[in-house]
Amino acid sequence: MSNINPDAARLAAALQYAHDHQDQALEELKSLVRIPSISNDKSCKPEMERAAHWLIEQLQQLGFHKVQMFQTAGAPIVYAELLTAGPNKPTALIYGHYDVQPAEPLELWESLPFEPEVRGELLFGRGASDMKGQIVAVLAALNALAQTGDLPVNLKFLLEGEEEVGSPNLDAFIISHAELLSSDFVLNPDSGMVSQDHPTITYGLRGIAYFEIRVTGPDHDLHSGIFGGIVHNPAQVLCELIAGMHDAAGRVTLPGFYDQVRPLEDSERAELRRLPINEVYYRSQTGCSEFFGEEGYTLIERATARPTLEVNGLLSGFTGEGSKTVLPARAMAKISARLVPDQDPYEVQRQLSQYLHEHAPSTVRWEMTLHSAGYPSITDLDHFAIKAMQQALEDTWGSRPLVKREGGSIPVVASMQKHLGLESVLAGFSLPEDGAHAPNERLHLPTFERGVQALVRFFTYL
Ligand code: BES
Ligand code: ZN
Repeated sequence: MSNINPDAARLAAALQYAHDHQDQALEELKSLVRIPSISNDKSCKPEMERAAHWLIEQLQQLGFHKVQMFQTAGAPIVYAELLTAGPNKPTALIYGHYDVQPAEPLELWESLPFEPEVRGELLFGRGASDMKGQIVAVLAALNALAQTGDLPVNLKFLLEGEEEVGSPNLDAFIISHAELLSSDFVLNPDSGMVSQDHPTITYGLRGIAYFEIRVTGPDHDLHSGIFGGIVHNPAQVLCELIAGMHDAAGRVTLPGFYDQVRPLEDSERAELRRLPINEVYYRSQTGCSEFFGEEGYTLIERATARPTLEVNGLLSGFTGEGSKTVLPARAMAKISARLVPDQDPYEVQRQLSQYLHEHAPSTVRWEMTLHSAGYPSITDLDHFAIKAMQQALEDTWGSRPLVKREGGSIPVVASMQKHLGLESVLAGFSLPEDGAHAPNERLHLPTFERGVQALVRFFTYL
């Protein structure tokens, strides 16, 4: 005599399967991390293909149909679908990126970036957290469901290989394949949690405008003793230009930079204040004892809901060991702005250009280029798929998930809203201390395993 709820039994079987096959998921993740799919590195073109093929094989094994690779001007896009749940069930479009950031500086890695290594509860390797681990978590959850019954929802996958360089070829693909991608919502696990104990749903992302500025002075490097004092040093000019991009109150000085910024509502500011993210949290995450930024805003507001301008890199003159007396002919900076609704990256490009026209001295020449542009986004938290994710996270962690904005950028989220009318459920299982984009990137395996369990529940609750 048994009156076990068949839905509960079905969920329990899938959760058990996922639990029993953790090692298999870890081995799969390691094999994906071994592929150095660095989108920023042109010599990695074959590796991008390899990573795309790896995904295609996994999706085929899962029984997906129409598993396809689309070539683009850059890295290939992988598409697949499995629409067996029928027209009365929702369709989830799962987004992921299989590319990773460069691994440099290599000397700071304790194990090789593309030879994944488990040390304690952590898997080290470039992309382990951002976001190969998140992709494999979704595949493991779907496999657990597929091995123990019918899949509860219809599924489509869109996997790109250029997110870490600003997704330059994705919008064109989305626009020209709108029909193929039609679905009820997007699951985007390219985000993370506030901490191991705080499952998190992200409802806001900043946009980005990434620039390179090159300043040129003399037509070759000069002896700084013979010519120093008469030549305007391009390194100094560039530093002065950069120094002028913020005022004493930490605000960005580009003309019109804040004009389109949507002010934070009092209610949202109150919500943000309730999060366990304060000065102590940021001290432990950064190793900084004091902070800097726009006056009048809390740290979490500055890091997620206010726009910024940051120097990502500077290059000029002699930077080797010891000394060399040289007056450099050139200086270069990589600069990016993080944007919030309703800023427009192309508008910021115009503002930076105007700033340089107004402030660069006539003693040098300068040029600026835009490397990537992505729009900010805000997600509707009332969506049924968000509710399902909230429940799935709560049932897995035993506490209500936090909802917050994220300071990082995932330009596809705004593109999906704009071109397909789709909201994204942004919930992933990376942690702030995973070292994304940094040496010794790692994935916290217990959180990864809980993430798989949460995803099994999510697909079931939909
Ligand atoms: N996964 C990140 C975005 C992210 C970071 C989400 C932290 C949640 C928490 C993504 O892969 C990323 O790093 N994006 C780039 C985009 C850029 C190159 C256009 C970023 O934000 O720097
Ligand atoms: Zn990512």
